[in-house]
Amino acid sequence: MAKVKKAFICSNCGAHSSKWEGKCHSCEEWNTLVEEVITKDTSEESKRNVWKEETALKPKKLSEIQLGETARIISYDKELNRVLGGGIVMGSLVLIGGHPGIGKSTLLLQLAVSLKKKVLYISGEESEEQIKMRAERIQYKNLNCFILTETNVVKILQQAKNGHVDLIIIDSIQTLSSPYIESTPGTISQIRECTGELQRFAKETNIPIFVIGHITKDGSIAGPKLLEHMVDVVLQFEGDRHHTYRILRTIKNRFGSTDEIGIYEMQSVGLRQVNNPSELLLSQSQEDLSGSAISATIEGLRPMLLEIQALVTPSAYGTPQRSATGFDLRRLSMLLAVLEKRCGLPFAQSDVFLNIAGGIKVADPSIDLAIVVALISSLQDIPINRKCCFAGEIGLSGEIRAVNRVEQRIQEANRLGFEQIYISSYNNKGISQSKYDIEILSVSKVEDLLRKLFD
Ligand code: TYD
Ligand code: MG
Repeated sequence: MAKVKKAFICSNCGAHSSKWEGKCHSCEEWNTLVEEVITKDTSEESKRNVWKEETALKPKKLSEIQLGETARIISYDKELNRVLGGGIVMGSLVLIGGHPGIGKSTLLLQLAVSLKKKVLYISGEESEEQIKMRAERIQYKNLNCFILTETNVVKILQQAKNGHVDLIIIDSIQTLSSPYIESTPGTISQIRECTGELQRFAKETNIPIFVIGHITKDGSIAGPKLLEHMVDVVLQFEGDRHHTYRILRTIKNRFGSTDEIGIYEMQSVGLRQVNNPSELLLSQSQEDLSGSAISATIEGLRPMLLEIQALVTPSAYGTPQRSATGFDLRRLSMLLAVLEKRCGLPFAQSDVFLNIAGGIKVADPSIDLAIVVALISSLQDIPINRKCCFAGEIGLSGEIRAVNRVEQRIQEANRLGFEQIYISSYNNKGISQSKYDIEILSVSKVEDLLRKLFD
């Protein structure tokens, strides 16, 4: 093997240095030097004017390229198939990120034991016994699932090659190390080198590889952003650890749409796929209670009805408290300010607590309307009919704005037996009431809504 040449390169200015230093000698930035393999074969690198030589490689016309059917492994996990764009693509490198304890290892072990394929599960984090215990818990069936506790990427790939496996799972990328680099596992240079190695292996052998990646406190995948650029698919596993629902979201997908989400419920026997989210995310109570309203939202491409709960009480202190779970606190403050200004409602003297049922985080702005309704309902202690739902975004001047895919929301609410849905007047065009049993009501301002619902 040719000698491996390494250097420390400044990630700010690109200056080379033969040893690690805290401060770059060129641009004087601190902590920017990163270890990199410059070349694995010095003799090839030193050749000049190689471009003058003839090469067998010919560029192809776009029209000449034949499109074969992308081969995919269809797993038993319908939610995972959905987020991957219809199954696991052969030779793909998939990264799954998520907070500790959210269930990443469980999700992939479940995949490993449910496939009728030879799977190699590599763990650098847990012992064989621990994995066996988890497998017993999820009642494993696949007798062709092999466990290896190893962190050296070269040895792992040797094992995979010699064992003729169909799928590789790596838990986690931060524990892997490449013998070509001296940095400790988890550093930027190690992660980059190992990921590069895995990507090359996957493409050459056509074996799909799943890797787990830790995420940092602010929610991004630990290690360089480059990691996300290098892999084919990035999935994020999220949810509140104290609740049972988990969402698998696509951040990047070279083989499908990034709008898909998968929903799971963590049970004592592993993750269960949730194919019909709406029925679970509405609380079971049949009574009309004040402070609760139902929003017809769309997460990814899936419509679902979510319950919003608000509690508004007179504040005991000078500075009122505001707290929100599953919703952006600044957006809540904005909605409260709109209600105060446009409808003259006295939220400035009240503590406000907001909760989205199921511990789900929602990014869809159409949830605004249900939040506003829940807030007013709690403030005035007037319950809202549980057979009524809402979809609309609220603007700063109190206007109710149109939302996307409104027909899909109406269909879902209709299917679940809701009697009324409030939408924006700007959304109302082209929707025929006669197609649905549900009554479609349109509003254009929060003042109108207040009059219609609470007078
Ligand atoms: P784990 O997959 O280890 O999370 P990660 O790899 O993302 O860190 O799962 C962690 C949690 O899931 C753990 O707190 C226990 C819980 N769990 C269940 O509730 N039921 C189960 O069947 C399993 C295997 C785990
Ligand atoms: Mg784990």
